[in-house]
Amino acid sequence: MFDKLCIFGVGLIGGSIARAAKANGLAKTVVGIGRVQDANNLILAKKLGIIDRYYIDEANLSDSWNHSGVANDYPSFCDAVDQADCVVIATPVASIEVILSSLKANWSPSTIYTDVGSTKGSVVEAAQRVFEGKVPSNFVPAHPIAGAEKSGVQASLCDLFVNKRLVITPLADTNPGAVQSIQVFWQGMGAMVSIMDVQRHDAVLAATSHLPHILAFALVDMLGHQDEQSEILNYAAGGFRDFTRIASSDPTMWRDICTANKKEIIPLLQQTKAQLDKIQHLLEIGDDQQLFSIFAYANTARQRFLNQFEGNMSKSITFQVQPGGSLQGEARVPGDKSMSHRSIMLGSLAEGVTHVTGFLVAEDALATLQAFRDMGVEIEGPINGCLTIHGVGKHGLKAPKNELYLGNSGTSMRLLSGLLAGQPFNSVLTGDKSLSGRPMKRVTEPLKAMGADIKTTEQGTAPLYIAGRAGQLHGIDYVMPMASAQVKSCLLLAGMYATGVTRVTEPAPTRDHTERMLNGFSYPVTREGSTATISAEGQLTATDIDVPSDISSAAFFLVGASIAPGSDLLLKHVGINPTRTGVIDILRLMGAKIDVLNERVVGGEPVADLHVVYSPLKGIDIPEELVPLAIDEFPVLFVAAAVAEGQTRLSGAEELRVKESDRIQVMADGLQILGVDAQPTADGMVIQGGSIGGGVVTSHGDHRCAMSFSIAGLRASAPITVLDCANVNTSFPEFKDLVKNLGLNLVSEES
Ligand code: S3P
Repeated sequence: MFDKLCIFGVGLIGGSIARAAKANGLAKTVVGIGRVQDANNLILAKKLGIIDRYYIDEANLSDSWNHSGVANDYPSFCDAVDQADCVVIATPVASIEVILSSLKANWSPSTIYTDVGSTKGSVVEAAQRVFEGKVPSNFVPAHPIAGAEKSGVQASLCDLFVNKRLVITPLADTNPGAVQSIQVFWQGMGAMVSIMDVQRHDAVLAATSHLPHILAFALVDMLGHQDEQSEILNYAAGGFRDFTRIASSDPTMWRDICTANKKEIIPLLQQTKAQLDKIQHLLEIGDDQQLFSIFAYANTARQRFLNQFEGNMSKSITFQVQPGGSLQGEARVPGDKSMSHRSIMLGSLAEGVTHVTGFLVAEDALATLQAFRDMGVEIEGPINGCLTIHGVGKHGLKAPKNELYLGNSGTSMRLLSGLLAGQPFNSVLTGDKSLSGRPMKRVTEPLKAMGADIKTTEQGTAPLYIAGRAGQLHGIDYVMPMASAQVKSCLLLAGMYATGVTRVTEPAPTRDHTERMLNGFSYPVTREGSTATISAEGQLTATDIDVPSDISSAAFFLVGASIAPGSDLLLKHVGINPTRTGVIDILRLMGAKIDVLNERVVGGEPVADLHVVYSPLKGIDIPEELVPLAIDEFPVLFVAAAVAEGQTRLSGAEELRVKESDRIQVMADGLQILGVDAQPTADGMVIQGGSIGGGVVTSHGDHRCAMSFSIAGLRASAPITVLDCANVNTSFPEFKDLVKNLGLNLVSEES
């Protein structure tokens, strides 16, 4: 894109720009320019191939810019910058004025000049001083919001700007073509570009970056001095380290940034002092409730930030699985995901306080939890899977200030769409890439038939824009075209806000946790044959909920122990609701040895301990009526089929194509890589049982496919690498540790 790119200051940021520009084919020749005292940095940058040529400026700047005796690649400063397509000033903000002065004499209309300073007002003022009040139209002020406590070219990275924000702050006269070139340049290095005015940039950065740095420096300054007297920091741990990480940043640079942006920072310091005074006062008068409100609000606000930040920055996780092993011992897998979602929803709408135990502390259920906090519900925890939900009543939800981000969770989005359609406020539901590709018309169409005002994208996907229609929904009689518990639950929740009666008929039995839990909260919902009926007549009364272990998580171990010789495993306190036990039935039909022990009913849901030992499996035709009862377990059942004797056929399971991934395709592709004869069909798969080899497979970000491929390692003949496993955290964060403890050699690698 640029033939010649000149970078002033080849340190962390400048060096990273040079690396990224080269790696992404954005610049042919990169020239580094620096001060005499930076000569070694430039020499190193050239040696490492980060820049092609350099020039050590000896004339233009302060007294310290004396000749270092190093041979330059250009005869003069003028030659170094001559014919550059782009000049980037990547030096500390305090030096930008001097550099602009040095460039002024040779300022070229065909070059684009830009900078990376952290404060934009001071840079623009410096440019105004240098250019007698008129900032040249080809100077584009910009700021990459990326950095590290480290400095120097040796710390530079070619992906430093990937998924980081880059703010361009053009002035009224800035040339739009130059702005566009800088935008394309940064996007080419992976940054997410925003355009802002200078003042807003400085106000936003003062709050989100400069103030936190000052607080960290101030705290460590204060406690560091105390430490000299009494060694208190010997007792400081992770909390102190995390809070003060940024106090390791370059003090000169931060002095300059804070000085340059003091106009914005000083009022924020005043607000911070007022906030601390308020907290001091609350402690003095013993107002625990107010104190809790401040902390709980902060907790929510931080979670919202993390969701966005981590959504942009998600790490890639790979599971490396060594072949062989068996599963032995006793385990309690985490709480049921479907019930965890519903406990938050109904607990929030109940009158009174609901205590939940066994809650699934994983991303999907936490997305629901966050959504209800965003709608004003006070929820304490989770601490060791325990929550206390201060219900606000059926009509007590408050309008969320922002969109509700539901991550990967289809259950959150589909159930919430029904619940929100009848509220007195508007809401927007968003999700990650996978969730944003999943079909939502299955809920929005029947909701519209109830009078809801709800919009999707043209493709029928999220974001969902829901206009509050309190009091305007009416009941319908709906026969679902597919067997979906999410659609059924969505309509039942909408029915709680609709006039008349809402009836939902399912073509085949689907999980009935919504109906059971509504009854547990004393809300009337009736069942006749395949039809569930609800109306707005009723209210939810708080209750205590004990969430059993998720049979969908237990399924990985049921299959693992069934296929690995020598296995003997007891899975405790597993939910065995008959609408969920298809996996046990299918495995037993294949010859698995699974005993259901100690059956009991806990909070309206049947629970048992499952004992499973190794047993040779045989292929079967999976009865279609079992499909909805094992809908989430097919990825791992395909693994069982891969080692069974003979052929296994699945049909009537087209729903698998619209789960977190197209599970038919993803599993068939992966199994084929592992040498299994797995043929996908439109609505299922045909697998010829035999042996499993090794190889590199990808889960396509689908948690259940990632865990299923890992379980295949128990019978593989060579190592299996499973790519894209970060989403295991949506349902089973403990999977890798638990499966390892029970006998599978799995290592999780992060990059
Ligand atoms: C769920 C229902 C099922 C299931 C999902 C959880 C629920 O989805 O696959 O993991 O909690 O209601 P469908 O309703 O799309 O079958």
